[in-house]
Amino acid sequence: MSASVKTPVRSADIGNPRLRFRSQRTSQFTESVIREMTRLAIEHDAVNLAQGFPDFGAPEEIKRAAQDAIAADFNQYAITWGAKPFRDAIARKYQRSYSLDYDPEREITVCCGATEGMIAALLAVTNPGDQIVIFEPYYENYGPDALLCEAERKLVRLQPPDWTFDPDELRRAFSAKTKAIILNSPNNPTGKVFTRAKLEVIANLCQEFDALAITDEIYEHIVYDGASHIPLATLPGMRDRTVLVNSMSKTYSVTGWRVGFVLAAPDLTDSIRKVHDFLTVGAAAPLQQAGVVALSLPDSYYERLRVEYQKRRDLVSRYLEQSGFRCYRPLGAYYIMSDISDFGFVDDLSFIRHMIENIGVAAVPGSSFFSDSNAGTTLIRFCFCKKYETLEKAGDRLRQIQSNPVGAPAR
Ligand SMILES: Cc1ncc(COP(=O)(O)O)c(C=O)c1O
Repeated sequence: MSASVKTPVRSADIGNPRLRFRSQRTSQFTESVIREMTRLAIEHDAVNLAQGFPDFGAPEEIKRAAQDAIAADFNQYAITWGAKPFRDAIARKYQRSYSLDYDPEREITVCCGATEGMIAALLAVTNPGDQIVIFEPYYENYGPDALLCEAERKLVRLQPPDWTFDPDELRRAFSAKTKAIILNSPNNPTGKVFTRAKLEVIANLCQEFDALAITDEIYEHIVYDGASHIPLATLPGMRDRTVLVNSMSKTYSVTGWRVGFVLAAPDLTDSIRKVHDFLTVGAAAPLQQAGVVALSLPDSYYERLRVEYQKRRDLVSRYLEQSGFRCYRPLGAYYIMSDISDFGFVDDLSFIRHMIENIGVAAVPGSSFFSDSNAGTTLIRFCFCKKYETLEKAGDRLRQIQSNPVGAPAR
């Protein structure tokens, strides 16, 4: 933000002597709606289908590897850009899965989750006033990420039912000021998996406008109905124009470990490592050792992950449809966007409040994935990365939704 832009003073701030210590940056942040829904779910003992973390155990072999690493005293700082065996394992995994070659010495940075990877990448490549193209609806962190970089968001709508974008609208979003496009495929919240044809449109625009692609690929292995994930970096001309952000969180069901990584050409990696070093120094050293075991798991691990999540997707879609929701069937990630227009509520927030307080199930209001809070108000997002018993409990409760209009307690 330029120095001339003033943050509006909120009524709660008038006369607040501590305002001096609140940066303009943070005053524009709102509390994470997803975490707020989790807080409400706990308060009302609701089944939490809001926040995207598994309530089942992580794979035994990687938990054991983490315990062994602590016992073997991998307890001090790892090399700032990541323990060498872990960077080697990441390089081997990309070669095995996508025939992509990354040099562990100059092109791989281990960081604290994809969250740090994304902000480190953006801080490394943007200057204040640069424009970043983002598909909307979008994962909520990208908004504050852009604010922290003082970059301007240019939003391009993904249109239901299949969450496709209009190539002309995307072209209009690009300009000489475009520094990067953020692409999240498989996509949270829509479940969209971008096809090669759509990726080509994006790749061509990046090359025409000399822009980077920063890709968030944390759901790479969670794809359904034969869809496949294609890293944008595999398209002609995109290898050195793509900053690929990924993480152990979703693929290995360890969202609390906070281990992610960024793959990028040496000049980009050089800047990203500088930001990363001063932001966090490094990710947890013993967990990076366990990451070597995780990224060396056989293909059968990923196949089982996919099959299991597809079963959960089908189960939850059935529950939702039987309860009167119209579902947009996801082809990837572990969320289902559903349309609530038929329930006759004024908006998504009042619907979710009713669901949490009277039905006992939490989800995320669709508007939280849009920059304009008047958009997405007929949508809500359910996540299904939960034990079958959790999903069944949610299904049982959701069945009561049609017979319980606003204010009529179901439990
Ligand atoms: C699209 C997307 N990117 C990043 C993250 C956060 O990843 P990490 O746990 O690796 O920081 C999430 C978490 O839900 C997500 O959905």
